[in-house]
Amino acid sequence: MKTKITQKVFEPLLEKNIDESKQGLAYENIINQSSSKKAYIETYGCQMNFSDTEIIASVLTDLGYGFTANVLESDLALINTCSIRENAEEKVWNKLKELKSVKKKNPNLLVGVMGCMAERLKSKLLEQEKLVDIVVGPDAYRDLPKLIESAESGIRSINVLLSREETYADISPIRLNTNGVSAFISIMRGCNNMCTFCVVPFTRGRERSRDYQSILNEAQELFDNGYREVTLLGQNVDSYKYEDCNFAQLLEKVALINPDLRIRFSTSHPKDITDEVLFTMKKYDNICNYIHLPAQSGNTEILEKMNRGYSREWYINKVNRIREILPDCAISTDIIVGFCGETEEQFQDTVTLMEWAKFDFAYMFFYSERPGTPASKKFVDDIPEEEKKRRLQIIIDIQTKNSYQSNLNDLNKTYKILIEGDSKKSSLDFCGRNDQNKMVIFKKQKGLQPGDYVNVKVNQVTSATLIGEII
Ligand code: 5AD
Ligand code: SF4
Repeated sequence: MKTKITQKVFEPLLEKNIDESKQGLAYENIINQSSSKKAYIETYGCQMNFSDTEIIASVLTDLGYGFTANVLESDLALINTCSIRENAEEKVWNKLKELKSVKKKNPNLLVGVMGCMAERLKSKLLEQEKLVDIVVGPDAYRDLPKLIESAESGIRSINVLLSREETYADISPIRLNTNGVSAFISIMRGCNNMCTFCVVPFTRGRERSRDYQSILNEAQELFDNGYREVTLLGQNVDSYKYEDCNFAQLLEKVALINPDLRIRFSTSHPKDITDEVLFTMKKYDNICNYIHLPAQSGNTEILEKMNRGYSREWYINKVNRIREILPDCAISTDIIVGFCGETEEQFQDTVTLMEWAKFDFAYMFFYSERPGTPASKKFVDDIPEEEKKRRLQIIIDIQTKNSYQSNLNDLNKTYKILIEGDSKKSSLDFCGRNDQNKMVIFKKQKGLQPGDYVNVKVNQVTSATLIGEII
């Protein structure tokens, strides 16, 4: 199956963030070009949303839809949305405005809003923006056929019911967002953590883990189809629990599928990640040495206000423990600056944490109050935007230095790279990741193709990429 990605923008989310998310992308699935009806899908937000879009694509394929990257020729335009920060929602509102003019040219077009904004704004989307015909929350994708049918008959339709059980375990995702080498597997849905700043527990509901057998089947099938890397996704993978199987045991089961299948996972929560997980990572070479461990803040009082369930010291001990057990493990983080009442002193604790931890990568945000969250009810969003931006710039500068230094440390080292495809800049070069999730660029060699492993020696670096040659 050939997939064309028409637009790539990167926005991290869902605590774990990858560097190649493709915000607002549409797909052209060549295989279904002959289908009578065509869907146009754009996805915003986290990997979980991208993974959900692959489930939605499966439901649509069963309905006889093909996919198009040209909204003008589509019968159904679906936007899978994100509510994590205000600007994520703004992007979607702008998109909906654009679709309004498309609808003028193509009045039969049905427009649907899916995902977190559907859940958060519910019927408001139908009422305020009269152009939306279908609103579907994250647990209601099985209901799409019914909702589309009723929209086709002129009745605007909505299902935003959250479920305690839905994991879509039996739906085989259509891999739209693929390079044929690397795929996401959702292992759980929802979140029970209730970090006070976060809207996710409200938009995605209670945490539930997916049957591990269905996860293993999916991973095996991907491997059999030539995939060589899977990323296990969940809001808090360390609390995965299905019958007697915890996350460490799940990791082991997936790792045993084949030594040539790389395993990644996201997101880890500092309060929940266990030694058992770290030792399982150590035991299996094919479990990648990379942990996304969101700190959010370096100050214990702020962490308490955020309801993160750990202190600065606990976080530091976790990082030390990871480095003790897995000396080569890369660590990345998420940071929020300008949370309610954050003083300059408290902010400086985040600065010193970042200077100490020397994260290989970080996703950094200023606090964006989300209506309905515990923080919006309990605290005042009192740091002026200018000040939030100043703080953000300070930590971005620290991280840019740290990322560059982390890459400099890789000079002259040799890494096993999984080839993902052509580099963005030149079709003479391949790109692929090392174990630590760093992107490496190198000259192509005859006989090699995406999905192959090669050893590459790093001889040049930037703050974002390693450049090397095959040895
Ligand atoms: N404001 C700013 N950043 C947020 N995040 C989550 N909620 C908010 C918010 N209200 C960040 C956190 C989380 C990442 C996915 O997004 O850092 O880990
Ligand atoms: Fe992550 Fe906390 Fe939000 Fe859950 S509530 S998704 S753990 S930030």
